Amino acid sequence: MNAQPLPPPLCAQDYADLARERLDAATWAWLESGGADEITVRTNRDAYAGVRLRSRVLRPLAGAHTRLDLDGHALAHPILIAPMAWHGLVHPDAEQATALAAAATGTPFIVSAQSGTPVETLAALPGPPHLWFQLYAQTRREDTLALARRAVDAGARALVLTVDAPVNGVRNAEQRSGFHPPSHIRSVHLDGLSPAKARPTLPGGSPLFDSGLLDAAPTWDDVAWLRAQLPGTRLWLKGILDPDDARAAIGHGIDGLIVSNHGGRCLDTLPATLDALPGVAQAVDGRVPILMDGGIRRGTDILKALALGAQGVLIGRPVLHALAAGGAPAAAHLIQVLRGELEVAMTLTGCRTLADIGPDVLWDR
Ligand code: FNR
Repeated sequence: MNAQPLPPPLCAQDYADLARERLDAATWAWLESGGADEITVRTNRDAYAGVRLRSRVLRPLAGAHTRLDLDGHALAHPILIAPMAWHGLVHPDAEQATALAAAATGTPFIVSAQSGTPVETLAALPGPPHLWFQLYAQTRREDTLALARRAVDAGARALVLTVDAPVNGVRNAEQRSGFHPPSHIRSVHLDGLSPAKARPTLPGGSPLFDSGLLDAAPTWDDVAWLRAQLPGTRLWLKGILDPDDARAAIGHGIDGLIVSNHGGRCLDTLPATLDALPGVAQAVDGRVPILMDGGIRRGTDILKALALGAQGVLIGRPVLHALAAGGAPAAAHLIQVLRGELEVAMTLTGCRTLADIGPDVLWDR
């Protein structure tokens, strides 16, 4: 069969098409799949499509820019790279390619606890890249703290504790694909830490509730403990959707929140992050910065997230799509494309700076 080569990528969807063509079916299922029936994956995207923008004309736009101060970090634009496991599954240069793309585009890269490349290696790359580090609470508190200290010592400028995935979601599409990571792909930061161990359960027992696996699931007490151990470090929580959880996080001295449903990969039928964002923003009331992720594929999506209360956004799957399609240059191009689309959207809604983006850019506000 002589398939026509795909045209050069112009937007995030073009990179998704290229990645799908290049990756084997099981890797694609790992990357792309969501929980259960993937309703939340679709809902994340549909939410942006359901919000219409309001164009404003003839406003002065000279000196327009996308700069911001995010919790003390001076950034050129409001786009960050979401933490994602195992970039080596999609490109041999793995996280090093992502970090180079991040450095080339002035984009903070949140390195996953499940990175296949040590954070020290990434921090030593030219740029140097602006790195944050994502943590999962480990079975033993000391392991979580050691991981946190290791990342900060390597130069991570903020830590992100992901709290929405104490268990894996029911990812049927990935299960059906038969996906297993090849032996050379491992989470290098977790080497030597004690993994949660399941006790054998009696006949009729539950492999989740009766196995002791949840004994180590993190609680607000663990957040309070970690916060107290890291007084000088910026600590964010990722995976907040509920306004009460947002208030609790602020009460625990958290520096910033990431509104996220894990890209629809955990609990299916959660609401779209765009729909959860206003409630969280109202509860937070400007006390800490908010980032959000989930389904962002266009500059107009970013504009809508900022209009509803986020200071910036995380990009997940599209970064891996671009990496699969062309390594570091493609990942850098993807970020430039999204930033360029945001600038066009700002121009056409009459917004000179990010501070001008508010609910009045939305038609049905
Ligand atoms: C993720 N995500 C994730 N989150 C996290 O906190 N730690 C992790 O290791 C991972 N790993 C991971 C792997 C893959 C393949 C994907 C697609 C996602 C979730 C990620 O940070 C982010 O919340 C979502 O990907 C955002 O949604 P979009 O942009 O992918 O739609």
